[in-house]
Amino acid sequence: MTQRMDLQGRHIVLGLSGGIACYKAAELTRGLIKAGATVQVVMSEAAEQFITAVTMQALSSSNVYTSQWDAREPNAMAHINLTRHADAVLIAPASADLMAKLAQGRADDLLSLMCLARPIERCPLLLAPAMNREMWAHPATQRNVALLRADGTTLLGPGNGDQACGEIGDGRMLEAYELVEELVAFLAPKVLAGQRLLITAGPTFEPIDPVRGITNLSSGKMGFAIARAAHEAGAEVTLVAGPVHLPTPRGVRRVDVQTAQQMYEAVVPNAANYSVFVATAAVADWRPASLSDQKIKKNGNKVAPTFELTENPDILAAVAQLPDRPYCVGFAAESHDLLKHAREKLTRKNVPLIVGNLGPATFGRDDNALVLVDAKGHRDIPQADKLTLARALVSEIAQRLNASKP
Ligand code: CTP
Repeated sequence: MTQRMDLQGRHIVLGLSGGIACYKAAELTRGLIKAGATVQVVMSEAAEQFITAVTMQALSSSNVYTSQWDAREPNAMAHINLTRHADAVLIAPASADLMAKLAQGRADDLLSLMCLARPIERCPLLLAPAMNREMWAHPATQRNVALLRADGTTLLGPGNGDQACGEIGDGRMLEAYELVEELVAFLAPKVLAGQRLLITAGPTFEPIDPVRGITNLSSGKMGFAIARAAHEAGAEVTLVAGPVHLPTPRGVRRVDVQTAQQMYEAVVPNAANYSVFVATAAVADWRPASLSDQKIKKNGNKVAPTFELTENPDILAAVAQLPDRPYCVGFAAESHDLLKHAREKLTRKNVPLIVGNLGPATFGRDDNALVLVDAKGHRDIPQADKLTLARALVSEIAQRLNASKP
């Protein structure tokens, strides 16, 4: 599959201040370039103790700036020129010392000078703090964090975990891929700002006995991609997930469930608190009528056990019946006659939008094609990776929410 160019056309100034996390800045540069950005690296003197400018130049394919006295710029004003065409300044790692300097508006080296001289309205500043946990927790650092936030600076992380010093706690710099994901989300248009989305994803698992159950091949990838895209678009997102092996998208609240009944209980009583409900889960239609609390054994007479099944509640239909229901989006995975079945589901479940896709061939794959079916007609979203499809769906949902505003 082709690489998604999430930062195509974006110009990022990547600043490095001193800290052992400089080693992650090399990977970060690669990640930004792979995502389509152009990257201009600026390093403090301390950063050069941890990683060389040559490494950063090779990875960014661009000259690295380290000094405010750099004479390469014709007007000798690197601190001005560097940010004038930048979409964002990202400082990773951001040391405690650099954050203190920025909070005070000091400008005694190129990196801090450039941040102070940037056009604050159109060139946002993002910091990825990296320091020992005691330094991060220190009241002076926390005071500086509050000041920086009040000035409109965005902090990415820090993460929690093992530190280079051997201690464990808050202060680790986020991983390169997490920073790329955060930056992509930060720069995305906020078409769902102020909206609250509830999303179901994955299969359900209906136990037969303590070791067996009925489930299906849904991977949850589409629902997780929609959760990520909705978060990027500025929504507050809750993801109710059946048993899947997927990491939670950053910034998304996740509730794990196993059975259809548990999914129903996690969704229906809370659904009216949301403005949009997207049901991507492949909910098992049936569950064993009774659960054996012991493992069912072969009985020796070669007679297979039989199970009575009982119907699970329809979560989407239940939400669609609520008096103050959110905007409901259903999914239809069909093996044939996609449009016909999707339209039939639109009516039967009484929802304004059904997203059809041809399954089960698409279960677990990273790409798919969708068709959006509503009362007026249908529209194809052509084959793409699931995050690209999810972003297209999110923008369709945003348009429909806007259109329904009085
Ligand atoms: N759905 C749900 N709760 C269920 C069953 C389905 O919320 N118990 C939701 C799915 O998340 C999906 C939509 O309803 O958004 C369509 O589900 P599907 O299983 O295809 O519909 P069915 O009514 O079961 O139709 P069929 O099995 O005949 O295709």
